[in-house]
Amino acid sequence: MAEPTPSPAQHPPRWLFALYVLLPLWAATYLFVVGGLVQPEVHTVARTIEGVSRGATAAPDGSEQVLGILAAVPQDARDDRPPRPVTEAMLAEAKSQYDTLCAVCHGPQGRGDGPAGAALNPRPLNFHFRAFQERMPPGATHWVIKNGLGNTPRRSGMPAFGQLSDDQIWALVEYVRRLGRQP
Ligand code: HEC
Repeated sequence: MAEPTPSPAQHPPRWLFALYVLLPLWAATYLFVVGGLVQPEVHTVARTIEGVSRGATAAPDGSEQVLGILAAVPQDARDDRPPRPVTEAMLAEAKSQYDTLCAVCHGPQGRGDGPAGAALNPRPLNFHFRAFQERMPPGATHWVIKNGLGNTPRRSGMPAFGQLSDDQIWALVEYVRRLGRQP
């Protein structure tokens, strides 16, 4: 018996073989090229998000927290002013007091990122907040350092430092304000 003539189905035409080779090649090229085009976009998006969050910790406004604290301070304390000018010697003492008493929560640069403050809610205030620099009266800051915020309606983690003298507290007020203006 003679061998049956192979049908076209058993021997696909040459162009189909070419397609088998070219299709994966085309797909690989497509993925490579499109991948190459998409990647910079992905990086841009990631950079933008990174930039936004970095900005948010670097120089945010902070007005919600600052005004919330201010609301807990008695009205008449807000206008208090230091009875005598804060001297450089007082500021030097304030720096060492800040480093031992405050940096653990407010961070060495006053960015609110000290280890003991990480679990607090609200977080220790970042003295670089624009709202702290522009909208918190020094008298209110003096009152908060002296009395803390735990016994106010705000009930937050800022302790009272009533053991310090008024002069020492005024020096700390000036010190944290200057700290928050450092780059
Ligand atoms: C146990 C952590 C902790 C320590 C220690 C601490 N703080 Fe605070 N401080 C906070 C928290 C939390 C807030 C924010 C409270 C809020 O938002 O209600 C705050 C807020 C403040 C504010 C904003 C209040 C205002 O009216 O300006 C100042 C200023 C301040 N702290 C200064 C100090 C100084 C100075 C010291 C050291 C003598 C100190 N803090 C030590 C936790 C701390």
